[in-house]
Amino acid sequence: MSHVLHLDSSPRGSRSISRALTQEFVSNWVKHHPQDTVTYRDVGKRPVPPVNESWVAAAFNKSEVLPVELADVLQISDELIDEVVNADRYVFGIPMYNFSVPANFKAYIDQVVRINRTFTPTWEGLLKRKKMLIISTRGSSYAAGTDLVNYDFQEPYLRTVFGFIGVRDITFIYAENLNEGEEARRRSLAQARDLIQQMITTW
Ligand SMILES: Cc1cc2nc3c(=O)[nH]c(=O)nc-3n(C[C@H](O)[C@H](O)[C@H](O)COP(=O)(O)O)c2cc1C
Repeated sequence: MSHVLHLDSSPRGSRSISRALTQEFVSNWVKHHPQDTVTYRDVGKRPVPPVNESWVAAAFNKSEVLPVELADVLQISDELIDEVVNADRYVFGIPMYNFSVPANFKAYIDQVVRINRTFTPTWEGLLKRKKMLIISTRGSSYAAGTDLVNYDFQEPYLRTVFGFIGVRDITFIYAENLNEGEEARRRSLAQARDLIQQMITTW
């Protein structure tokens, strides 16, 4: 039995392809694994704040008890970290924005990657035995052999930053070429949906 953290990061609603695909995955997953539970987090529609000076002071505070003026500063970060700690599987929908991740998702990463909570001072990742599925939507294709192969800073970044906090079992499903004409879009969406179906039984 697993606990799934389902997260969307597109600022778009019903037009969002990544939202549609994570929803398709999670609803099928639950049908096949009815005892599993799901927590939902939407950083696209309900963005988390970027970290600020007080956040940094509180996160790196060395004393046992936080000074009173910093007592509540890490509340959102604590809540988000509790969600990743309590889940075994992560299903994240992340559009490619400017060759990387949307700013809302970067703000989420900055809240969750925290010393002594998700990594140690000696850089040991504390999220162990987790599985992550990233459904990434893209206007173009960055596949091997394409002109844009070196422009994909999203997958290497996400593998590095989540690997840093211990999550190394990461699968990417791309819905790509979404802005490259109807035929390319249709083909890519069909492929992504096939992979999603396969993952329901093999993940
Ligand atoms: C601000 C912005 C930046 C984008 N940057 C890229 C990009 O660098 N590369 C790319 O292939 N597509 C890019 N796109 C296209 C999106 O990845 C594509 O529209 C995707 O479907 C968005 O995900 P969503 O449908 O879940 O909202 C960008 C779209 C927006 C709105």
